[in-house]
Amino acid sequence: MTTYPILPRHVAIIMDGNGRWAKQHKIKIALGHRTGVEALRAIIRESSDLGIEALSLYAFSTENWKRDPGEVEALMGLLLEFFTSEIDELHEKNVCIRILGDKDGMPEKQRTALISAEERTKDNTGLKLNIAINYGGRAELARAARILAKKAAAGEIDPDAIDEAMVADALYTRGLPDVDLLIRTSGEMRLSNFLLYQCAYAEFLFPTVLWPDFSLADYHQALDAFAKRDRRYGGRNS
Ligand code: IPE
Ligand code: IPE
Ligand code: MG
Repeated sequence: MTTYPILPRHVAIIMDGNGRWAKQHKIKIALGHRTGVEALRAIIRESSDLGIEALSLYAFSTENWKRDPGEVEALMGLLLEFFTSEIDELHEKNVCIRILGDKDGMPEKQRTALISAEERTKDNTGLKLNIAINYGGRAELARAARILAKKAAAGEIDPDAIDEAMVADALYTRGLPDVDLLIRTSGEMRLSNFLLYQCAYAEFLFPTVLWPDFSLADYHQALDAFAKRDRRYGGRNS
């Protein structure tokens, strides 16, 4: 197995390009998404084997509800299928699953599957696998503001004492390290509302490969490129 001199603690991936991949192959979009799930399986397994601490995957954004109902339905179906078919293996691999996003806004069956996956794997000590579903970075920050405002109104915290750590604690990613490496496939160079707060000092990589084609070799290339980055956090590494 490949080893890396510097491994990111937290990798985040915007899995983009399923639609274009389906178009290229002249097949239905749903099949593009299905092929995307295959790529995702391999990346989860590899992250776990490499000993990466946390992996956050953008699966469905708060904005993706705008897509046509047929596509949304196909994505919801795939989600349910993923959580039903993968959960045993992930649990066996000691993976701890956390959902980032508003589960209450999900259809009932999916919501139940997400909650049960979290519940079943919550004591696992291996890879922290975060799946962002019905997730938006701005919605997450607004939710954090509500959580802190309620605590202040109840007299549990002093508003003047609110600091960055308290904000971080009110996010879905509570307790996780900041994102070290963000990968977005398909060549698009934007965050699309993903982990706005957590990516403050992330290193960004935008491989042009479409998500269903993203291979372990592409992942290794990204990890190699990350290891060569000079991270300064505003200071100097002389
Ligand atoms: C990403 O692929 C998957 C989701 C948003 C769920 P897209 O479906 O956005 O693929 P493109 O951008 O249309 O190629
Ligand atoms: C971001 O991709 C969301 C996911 C990958 C789940 P989109 O394809 O929805 O983003 P935009 O619309 O190109 O910004
Ligand atoms: Mg896209």
